[in-house]
Amino acid sequence: MEHTPLLSMHNITKTFPGVLANDDVSFDVRNGEVHTLLGENGAGKSTLMKILFGLYKPDSGEIRLRGEVASITSPTSAIEQRVGMVHQHFMLVPTLTVAENVALGLTSSRGFRTDLDVVSDRITEISEQYGLSVDPEIDVWKLSVGERQRVEIIKALYRDAELLVLDEPTAVLTPQEVADLFVILRQMTDAGTGIIFISHKLHEVLELSDRITVLRNGRVTGHTTPAETSRQQLADMMVGREVKLAPDKPHVDLGLARLRLRNLSVKGDRGTMAVVDADLDVHAGEIVGIAGVSGNGQRELAETVAGLRPAEAGSSVSIDDVDLTTATPARTRAAGLSYVPEERMKDGAVGEFQVSENLLLINHAEARFRRGPLFDFAKIRDHCQELVDQFSVKTPSLATPTSSLSGGNIQKLIMARELESKPSVILAAQPTRGVDIGAAEYIHSQLVEQRNEGVAILMISEDLDEILGLADRIAVMFEGRIVKVVDRENATKEELGLAMAGAEVDA
Ligand SMILES: Nc1ncnc2c1ncn2[C@@H]1O[C@H](COP(=O)(O)OP(=O)(O)O)[C@@H](O)[C@H]1O
Ligand SMILES: [Mg+2]
Repeated sequence: MEHTPLLSMHNITKTFPGVLANDDVSFDVRNGEVHTLLGENGAGKSTLMKILFGLYKPDSGEIRLRGEVASITSPTSAIEQRVGMVHQHFMLVPTLTVAENVALGLTSSRGFRTDLDVVSDRITEISEQYGLSVDPEIDVWKLSVGERQRVEIIKALYRDAELLVLDEPTAVLTPQEVADLFVILRQMTDAGTGIIFISHKLHEVLELSDRITVLRNGRVTGHTTPAETSRQQLADMMVGREVKLAPDKPHVDLGLARLRLRNLSVKGDRGTMAVVDADLDVHAGEIVGIAGVSGNGQRELAETVAGLRPAEAGSSVSIDDVDLTTATPARTRAAGLSYVPEERMKDGAVGEFQVSENLLLINHAEARFRRGPLFDFAKIRDHCQELVDQFSVKTPSLATPTSSLSGGNIQKLIMARELESKPSVILAAQPTRGVDIGAAEYIHSQLVEQRNEGVAILMISEDLDEILGLADRIAVMFEGRIVKVVDRENATKEELGLAMAGAEVDA
């Protein structure tokens, strides 16, 4: 016999002006399970959860908690009915302590001060029970992102949540923090809590979920379980067509080494060595993937290659035998480097600029866009429109401010600009982070096409699946050093994971 689910949402429909955000959505959650809502950006996941938490009123549909029709009219009423939520953007006051944050909004008959000791004790209890290890007396601004998230979880547990919603909790976490979070969530389900987990990262979803509901354009496109499905099937359900998770890669004969790093050592922002003695060649016609947990020197290495950060004496960086060790970004670019930076809005595009201005950021001075001393605006417009169409950048117009585009579309815009400049070396950091699967597929196919044409590509990614799907050779960075270089066909996930964790470093 089926047990009554903890939560069931029936035929929920919610419209915003011009948008059908939830279209007849139904799903349920049992005690002790992780039920994942999977879908691309804009699929309607957050809207559905805001309805559950009393932030939005559905146009139609019904919510049942423990079998009874529930009326959830506000977050307070959600909490009273033991529904907790960890939002995508945390709702903590940085200048207050953990205990003060948890105590905020609790109704109390006694004074705030006396209660705080009680709150602290209870936080310590909860913290120990679930291995959350958070000090109740510490100011929130001193905490890492992962720790802040644990405070949000404690807040919900303190209020006795029996159903906990986590909206994209892993988006802001390092892989190690993700692993820690999953252990905590499992302890909660073991204690009978029902969890709604939201993500669009397929390997996480397959690892953590008991059941999965996939949403696309506001509609449910399938209910499944990890045992019954695969990354490929989930991707297809999310996107609504067959997706190529790993692009076809024809054999290409390797050419000469185009990018050469020799004894590359680089200082980080704090003055300590971030990159130590890195040697690496990237040849024409190959993609070399740098794997590693972020913070192990990848960012500094990329910035140095791009001319944005100085290298230490004795280092050398060259492209096609042109020494660029001390070159400016402009000279590096002139020598043939295209750079797709990790920090898109900081290093890749100017938010206040129009889409067309960002597309032309680099080559606006070229003769083809000029008529005598003047810009040829018609030519420029055609050129930009072509790039936007080719890379399917979704933008209302060429004059739209770039900052109003989604992260994925900004990434496509930068890619379009960088690939159009006919580079000899492409350095791409986290090329598809925060990008929808459909757009990621396109970016990957473009990188492979460049490789096939003899470009040397250095790709930095935290996503091992991306590295394994795209790279011809893989280098692993740990604590600033390249600790392993291996051909793709000889690489295994386990071995790479060990190297990323520093297991292969000689003592
Ligand atoms: N407050 C709002 N006003 C208008 N449109 C909204 C609002 N919230 C979400 N939407 C739209 O509803 C759709 C679903 O959004 P959302 O639920 O945030 O998706 P997801 O969380 O899956 O990325 C999107 O098209 C989004 O632009
Ligand atoms: Mg969302």
